[in-house]
Amino acid sequence: MLQKEARLPVRLRFLLQHICLYPSFFRIIQKEDRPLDNKTPAVKMRNITKRFGPVVANDKVWLDIYRGEILALLGENGSGKTTLMNMLSGIYFPDEGEISIDGRPVVIRSPKDAFDLGIGMIHQHFKLVDVLTAAENIVLGLPGKLDLKKAAARIREICSAYGFEVNPEQKIYDMSVSQKQTVEIVKVLYRGADILILDEPTAVLTPQETDKLFAVLRNMRDDGKAIVIITHKMHEVEDLSDRVAILRHGQFIGDMPTAKTNAQEMTNMMVGHAVELNINRPEPKDPKPRIVVKNLTVRSIDGILKLDDVSFTANSGEILGIAGISGCGQKELLESIAGLQPVEGGSIEYIEDDGTPEQLLGKDPLSIQQMGVSLSFVPEDRLGMGLVGNMDLSDNMMLRSFRRGRSLFTDRKSPRKLAETVVHDLDVVTPGISTPVRRLSGGNVQKVLVGREIASAPTVLLTAYAVRGLDINSSYTIYDLINKQKESGVAVIYVGEDLDVLLELADRILVLCGGKVSGIVPGRGAKKRDVGLMMTQLGGKTNG
Ligand SMILES: Nc1ncnc2c1ncn2[C@@H]1O[C@H](COP(=O)(O)OP(=O)(O)OP(=O)(O)O)[C@@H](O)[C@H]1O
Ligand SMILES: [Mg+2]
Repeated sequence: MLQKEARLPVRLRFLLQHICLYPSFFRIIQKEDRPLDNKTPAVKMRNITKRFGPVVANDKVWLDIYRGEILALLGENGSGKTTLMNMLSGIYFPDEGEISIDGRPVVIRSPKDAFDLGIGMIHQHFKLVDVLTAAENIVLGLPGKLDLKKAAARIREICSAYGFEVNPEQKIYDMSVSQKQTVEIVKVLYRGADILILDEPTAVLTPQETDKLFAVLRNMRDDGKAIVIITHKMHEVEDLSDRVAILRHGQFIGDMPTAKTNAQEMTNMMVGHAVELNINRPEPKDPKPRIVVKNLTVRSIDGILKLDDVSFTANSGEILGIAGISGCGQKELLESIAGLQPVEGGSIEYIEDDGTPEQLLGKDPLSIQQMGVSLSFVPEDRLGMGLVGNMDLSDNMMLRSFRRGRSLFTDRKSPRKLAETVVHDLDVVTPGISTPVRRLSGGNVQKVLVGREIASAPTVLLTAYAVRGLDINSSYTIYDLINKQKESGVAVIYVGEDLDVLLELADRILVLCGGKVSGIVPGRGAKKRDVGLMMTQLGGKTNG
């Protein structure tokens, strides 16, 4: 019945879509194309609308989620992915629309309702109690008598069924980010979830941890669970998902089998127009030493060697990429240069324009900042460093002192103007610059942070995980901005997780392994495999 009605408009729309709006075409095709095996979706969302004041976060969205399938939910920052999933997990209630589970209409008013329906969501920000153990967190809030022994046994069962590694007795504060995430997943499985939603689960994981997570997700899919993953990383979408669904500006644009599409097409659909997915690498112009690090040694408060005799030079007009697995000293390296890290030995010199070296060790962060060293560090908790959630965009701009000088933004501007420029240049999705930062979607918060740091007209830009959580289009915007900084003579030190990007963007790559310099290689012509090896074992040529 439905299909008959749809047939005529399909042809008509086919023509129209081909002219300009081709993405909606996929939606029609997909509906016609879907195997008519009468498979009932585990979740059916129809005409779901959610508004936050003037913002329409979801606009009449249709979405089907199937068991035995991994669905990647894609969309630019602020396109409404988290909001849509929050309505399944009982955090928000739709203004309009219907939800059915296994063909049965349901009303989900609370996270408990969601759990009762077998829906579990792993959020971007974990919700665990630090001082409790894994097992205590997992059973927290469950009705009935607390039997931790029984719980631990059940947790072990779940872990061995899917390949998790969790020690039920371990305290959360003793855990790595990836272990905490595992606890979150086990927690929802423990409560019987068979529809799992993961909101950007890999944003804070190393490539190795991501592989482990994906293996577990595949096991769960093969076990018949319905899985939704939100991610901005196209290679993950291609590697893991069976189907993709795309949102744009709160609207459902289309869905299709992953095997029938590619990164370019998905990006175009997300953005609404063709996007070029190439990173430029202009030749450095007149590079001169700007930061000279010699024999830098840093220990953590508990005495662990974090940086071991690290020496290198960062030049003006050049991007020095830092590669390394998580925790191998990148953070300490950037923080040492920025004056935020106690240093045990060595020296860090800032070379003035006239060639005069200035020792940065012993200087406080403010005076280092005033010399032109700007640190844009995107931490695991995006609102934890540098931005204040309750303040609006414009006030957040003021949390920094601005200097005159080479800048993307030509003049020293008032915070309001600056906020407007950042919003415009980085396409920040926000109702206005008076909106508190905490109301923005994760990726948009980050654009504000990076935009502000770049706007401070640095001579040295230290950036860590600049594109973490950013959609693909915004990531390329950031690469462009970083390149512009380089071309205007800034010495950029870029710590990144994505080796493919480092290999395309950086002029030289310094590889860290366990706090030591494993090698420095030219970015042009470097092989991913070689750099990967240097990340895990010391060795390699030092050319720089
Ligand atoms: N609690 C809230 N109050 C006001 N506006 C909100 C709230 N939650 C989300 N929004 C707005 O709704 C829109 C969709 O946000 P959402 O977090 O769903 O985006 P997203 O697709 O998950 O983005 P990202 O990829 O950056 O995480 C954004 O414009 C956001 O600013
Ligand atoms: Mg989100």
